[in-house]
Amino acid sequence: MNFNQVSFVDSVFSLQRLPEPLYPEIAFAGRSNVGKSSLINKLINRKNLVKTSSKPGKTRSLNFFEVKEQLYLVDLPGYGFAQVNKQMRLDWEELISGYLLERETLACVVVIIDLRHALKATDREMLDWLQYNNIPALPIYTKADKLSKNQQSKQAAALDAALNIAPADRLIFSAKTDLGCEELRNRLAVYCQHETVEEEPPRQDSGTGA
Ligand code: GTP
Ligand code: MG
Repeated sequence: MNFNQVSFVDSVFSLQRLPEPLYPEIAFAGRSNVGKSSLINKLINRKNLVKTSSKPGKTRSLNFFEVKEQLYLVDLPGYGFAQVNKQMRLDWEELISGYLLERETLACVVVIIDLRHALKATDREMLDWLQYNNIPALPIYTKADKLSKNQQSKQAAALDAALNIAPADRLIFSAKTDLGCEELRNRLAVYCQHETVEEEPPRQDSGTGA
């Protein structure tokens, strides 16, 4: 799987406009400003193919990227962004939950959580909701570079306990260093569509009738 061959496909504001479901899809979810877009850029080794911002609420549509003929990566708008009115929030929720429930090619949702903080209710709700709907999820604890090694282990253990998961069920990550990146690539590669095996050409018997 070559995460270096990635192109932008489309930015979608409604479920009617989703691209054709050609490949297995990995969606990236998480609170606003947690680092979803930065994580995808790191994964695909690009500085800013996916737009990032220090201002929360940057990603407002479903942004589709294609790992050449193998996988779609989908950057989702963040949840828990306070500075929007109620109707806007409802519209976003409808778009995101509709996509997650109805997308037949959705293979896994990467749920990105800030390693520095205690578990937020919205993160737990997201993971519970995915589990309830039988949608595979992979939690990632990000922004690890902002903590010492010691603090990283302590915070990760606290999040594991709050989510009731084992260390093998999640990854610690940083978009600023290489931490967790290769392992994330390996974990996602298993969802990739296997290349179709070409059928063997028919045998050319010499016709001697042995
Ligand atoms: P929305 O689209 O607004 O929901 O945000 P997002 O979740 O896509 O976050 P984005 O990737 O835009 O990053 C938000 C801010 O966090 C930016 O200033 C990033 O530079 C910073 N950031 C993201 N990941 C990391 C990380 O691993 N380490 C550090 N130190 N900063 C990070
Ligand atoms: Mg974003």
